[in-house]
Amino acid sequence: MNPVRPITWKGWLLVALIRNLYRLLDLLGYRHGPYPEVNQHEDPGSMRNRWHEFRSGIYLGSKYYYQPFILDEQGSGIREALLTHHTPDSLPEGFQVEHRVSLHAGGDLIPYRAIHPMCCKHLWDEIGDEFFGADLVVANLESPSDFNRPYSPAPEVMLNDMWFNIDRSTWEIFNGGGRWRGMDLVSVANNHSLDQGIEGLESTLDFLRSRGVSYAGASRFELVEESAPVLERNGIRLGFVGATFSLNKGFLPPELKKRCHVVCMNEPDADWSTLVQEVQSVRQRGADLVAAMLHGGGAYQAFPGSVFRNNVHRFCDESGVDLVIAGHPHHPQPVEKYQSKVSGRSHWIVYSLGDFVSYDIFKWSHLSAWLRVEILKGTYPDQNALLGKSQATCIHRLELTPVYVEAIIRGKGVESLRFKKVHGTQGSRSIDCTDKTSQKEFKEVIKYWELCVQPSLGQ
Ligand SMILES: [Fe+2]
Repeated sequence: MNPVRPITWKGWLLVALIRNLYRLLDLLGYRHGPYPEVNQHEDPGSMRNRWHEFRSGIYLGSKYYYQPFILDEQGSGIREALLTHHTPDSLPEGFQVEHRVSLHAGGDLIPYRAIHPMCCKHLWDEIGDEFFGADLVVANLESPSDFNRPYSPAPEVMLNDMWFNIDRSTWEIFNGGGRWRGMDLVSVANNHSLDQGIEGLESTLDFLRSRGVSYAGASRFELVEESAPVLERNGIRLGFVGATFSLNKGFLPPELKKRCHVVCMNEPDADWSTLVQEVQSVRQRGADLVAAMLHGGGAYQAFPGSVFRNNVHRFCDESGVDLVIAGHPHHPQPVEKYQSKVSGRSHWIVYSLGDFVSYDIFKWSHLSAWLRVEILKGTYPDQNALLGKSQATCIHRLELTPVYVEAIIRGKGVESLRFKKVHGTQGSRSIDCTDKTSQKEFKEVIKYWELCVQPSLGQ
């Protein structure tokens, strides 16, 4: 089965050519999969040489154009560990709810030609009310927004390095088209953060400030209050930190290292010290609960690799972070409630929400995970406490909702994009749409969801 759905004839021809080259490699015995490889960090910025980069490109391309991996690393046990029903801890006995907050998170916001006002007039119609209706709405902004430089979206067929930049109208689409209040916070630490250099990053942060949107993972003056904000809603204070596994081929001089947080989390023994300090800082500033927006992991594979997963577990151990919201693989991956042997506590890890407002030709990217979290703050009887009761803030509910992006493709390109609500339950999920190609594709991608994502939450 072809894992991509090209848009134009040129795209179809190019993809056919690439897929035939992979078939040829397969016949010659040079094949990747069906298991992800442990030693592939997929970071263009830390390739040893051109040959390493070329081989890594062939590996990534084989997952994207030829055969995505639906299996986990051979013998790792990751699939079994993740595809069990992870449920929130029960509330402390006698817990009295005093405050309640809802958090919605979307995945990656990425510029493509289809993210255009003409195509996206009705993008949010079906889900906007509900998605932007939460007390706090967050996502990952995977592009600079430097309006003094040319708009630069992702191409239809990826063959070379990409250097993104959005214009104002793309931001408006990302942000709900002006019909809702939009994003409260975006993560700005990802592999495209430096696509327009350090000036591009600064312009992005200035723009977000001018729009009253908070951000995590980068700062203009290396202030922890800026890169790790604390937002209060309904009497609950939520702290956010962020970091990326790579800046692609972007370069940060040593004296500016703290401007954008890079933790090589796709490589063994990642150094989390800076991010651990940020988590401590937001706690000191009164955060009741801390969420880390991480950008990393292996793309085009159903399960996170052991290196990334072990690193994230260690980050939970060292920092005590409550919730990890991760992205970059371009499609959803499972969720895990990690029970730390160090803290004795549970930590929620969402390995990938997938692409959100974007339109990549990779079919799994057309299904996005919408994270809904309900957080409660209150008190419970505690004989050891001075006043006979203690305070706690808990993740009471955590769900992933699949959202399909329907593309109507006619003539030379995408005519319209719309988020579609998914109805029904396991085995009978459907969307309201009359486009036959979209219906066929939806059946393919929802199968992936039901096999590899949904069982982690037992929904
Ligand atoms: Fe990314």
